[in-house]
Amino acid sequence: MSNPLAPAAGPALRGRRALVTGASRGIGEAVARRLAGAGADVVVGCRRHPDEAAVVAEAIRGLGRRAEVVVADLTTTDGPARLARAAIAALGGIDLLVLNAGEGSRGLPIGRTSAAEVARHFQLHAGSAHQLLAELLPGLQAAPRADVVAISSVAVVARPAGGAPYTMAKAALEALMATLAAEEGVGGVQAHVVAPGLVATEQGRRLVRALTGGAELEDVEHRLPGGRALTADDVASAVLGLVSASGARGVAGRLVLGEGPDDLESLRLLLRGDGALPGGSQAS
Ligand SMILES: NC(=O)c1ccc[n+]([C@@H]2O[C@H](COP(=O)([O-])OP(=O)(O)OC[C@H]3O[C@@H](n4cnc5c(N)ncnc54)[C@H](OP(=O)(O)O)[C@@H]3O)[C@@H](O)[C@H]2O)c1
Repeated sequence: MSNPLAPAAGPALRGRRALVTGASRGIGEAVARRLAGAGADVVVGCRRHPDEAAVVAEAIRGLGRRAEVVVADLTTTDGPARLARAAIAALGGIDLLVLNAGEGSRGLPIGRTSAAEVARHFQLHAGSAHQLLAELLPGLQAAPRADVVAISSVAVVARPAGGAPYTMAKAALEALMATLAAEEGVGGVQAHVVAPGLVATEQGRRLVRALTGGAELEDVEHRLPGGRALTADDVASAVLGLVSASGARGVAGRLVLGEGPDDLESLRLLLRGDGALPGGSQAS
């Protein structure tokens, strides 16, 4: 008789079918590659960069897994539902959803931020997540195991000045995940939140340029505690750990990644090399 306590043989995610939004580059690409490396088939979601997404899908097929690219703008009315239906059609179902697609807001104070920008961020980060879940939940609930991972941000706790559209939208995404956990209960779909600090991706590089007046992340990241920004693969490793760990089902967890100041003013001073860290530590 087989030992029920023995770990499952073979790759941890063998037989799992994943949809990763925003997987043409950055964190989403790293997550898609990591999940495939652990045995999952993957739908690679993207918007403006289908060629880059096709390269990711090709690499996944090279690992012997199935992969399909689906192009959908998640800020459009029908984009999320179209993406969900195409993903189900491509793989025959989805039991692992990574809500990753996103972008930073313009960094303007509340009085100079348009209602349109706020609405756009809500739709991109939270509204689309709700719509994707509404389409995918029947399949997720029917699967022997199902996980939903939301890529949030330390901004939700730091609430930096000038970040209202992004912070509000990520907070709404986290609220959605908590609601999912409450609705699913123990034994249901697992809900996870991963909240990284600064990550060396296109979005992270843009933030560093904006904070420093044009410096490249690679030239200033040595000033961060730990000597570097997070990499997309750091985040992907955390995601892989969450979705392959066995444990209590239906529990919402929030994992914070990265050390360093989580408010933008301290980060700006630190990256420019002309500020003191809160608590008195001197930035190098
Ligand atoms: N980088 C950081 O420092 C950092 C820190 C904390 C949290 N995060 C979060 O991590 C997630 C990934 O960020 P990243 O740094 O990897 O960014 P990135 O390199 O700029 O990649 C963003 C991805 O999102 C997709 N995307 C953007 N707008 C979209 C839309 N309207 N519809 C569909 N897809 C869309 C892009 O697709 P196309 O390229 O095809 O347009 C791309 O694949 C985001 O939610 C971000 O807020 C990032």
